[in-house]
Amino acid sequence: MAEITFRVKRQDPTDKKNPEARWEDYKVPFEGNLTVLEGLFYIQEQYDGSLSFRYCCRASICGSCAMYINGAYRLACQTNIKHLDIIHDAEPVVTVQPMPHVPLVKDLVCDMDDFFAKYEYIEPWLIRNSQDPEKEILQSPKDRKQIDMPIDCILCGCCYSSCPSVWGEENYLGPAALLKAYRFEVDSRDEARKERLPRWDNERGVYRCHTIRNCQEACPKELSPTEGIQWLKKAAVRRRLFGRMK
Ligand code: SF4
Ligand code: FES
Repeated sequence: MAEITFRVKRQDPTDKKNPEARWEDYKVPFEGNLTVLEGLFYIQEQYDGSLSFRYCCRASICGSCAMYINGAYRLACQTNIKHLDIIHDAEPVVTVQPMPHVPLVKDLVCDMDDFFAKYEYIEPWLIRNSQDPEKEILQSPKDRKQIDMPIDCILCGCCYSSCPSVWGEENYLGPAALLKAYRFEVDSRDEARKERLPRWDNERGVYRCHTIRNCQEACPKELSPTEGIQWLKKAAVRRRLFGRMK
C-alpha cells in the first residue's frame, strides 16, 4: 500500500524540558478516501498516543477539527487527502499545524476561550419580548431566506484566526461573533435589535473590520462574515441618521 508523509507541528508549552515547537514526520498508509483526521487517528494509534487534536462529529458539523493544513484553513474531517493536489508528487507530504494567531494548548489544540467569550457577548440566541404565540413563530420563505447564509456557521474559528483585525486588537469581537449578530438582526422572529445593538455598534464591533476578507477565504463552509458585517455597518448608520431599527 502507498504511504504518505504527515508532517505535524508538535508543541507542549507546559513541558518544562521541551516547550519549543517542532515538526515531526509520520508515514501513514494511504488508500481511497483517507481524510486528514483519519491520518491523525492512525498516528495516535500507531506512533504516539500523546498527539493531541480536537474532533467530535467527523462530519463537518461541529467545527472542532479546524486546523491549518497544507497552507490553508480546513476541517480535518472534511479534507480528503486525494483532493490536496499532492498525491502525484514524488514524495507527497501533508503538513498539519494548529490554527495560527490563536493561543495554543497543545499540538493541534487551540485555546478557544476568547473566541467563545466574544461569541457569548453577542447574546447569540433568539430573544422575544412579546408574548409567545399559541403555535410556533411562523416565518415566510422570504424571511427564512435571509438567514440561509449565517445559520451555516459551525463556529470552527478559522475566520477568527485568519483576521488581521483580530491579531491587532485583542478586544475586537471578530468575524464569527459579528456574523452571529447579523444572523439575529435579519431573523424576522427576533425582537432584541435595540438591546443587542450596543454590543456590536461600538469600538469592539463592526468598525474594526477593514473588509480585508480573509475570513471569507478561510471559511470552510464558504460563508461571508464580511457581508454580514457590512450589512451591520449600514444598519448602524440608518439607525443613527433616521432612528429606524429595521
Ligand atoms: Fe467557521 Fe465560517 Fe463560522 Fe467563521 S464563519 S466560525 S470560518 S464556519
Ligand atoms: Fe466536527 Fe470535523 S469533527 S467538523
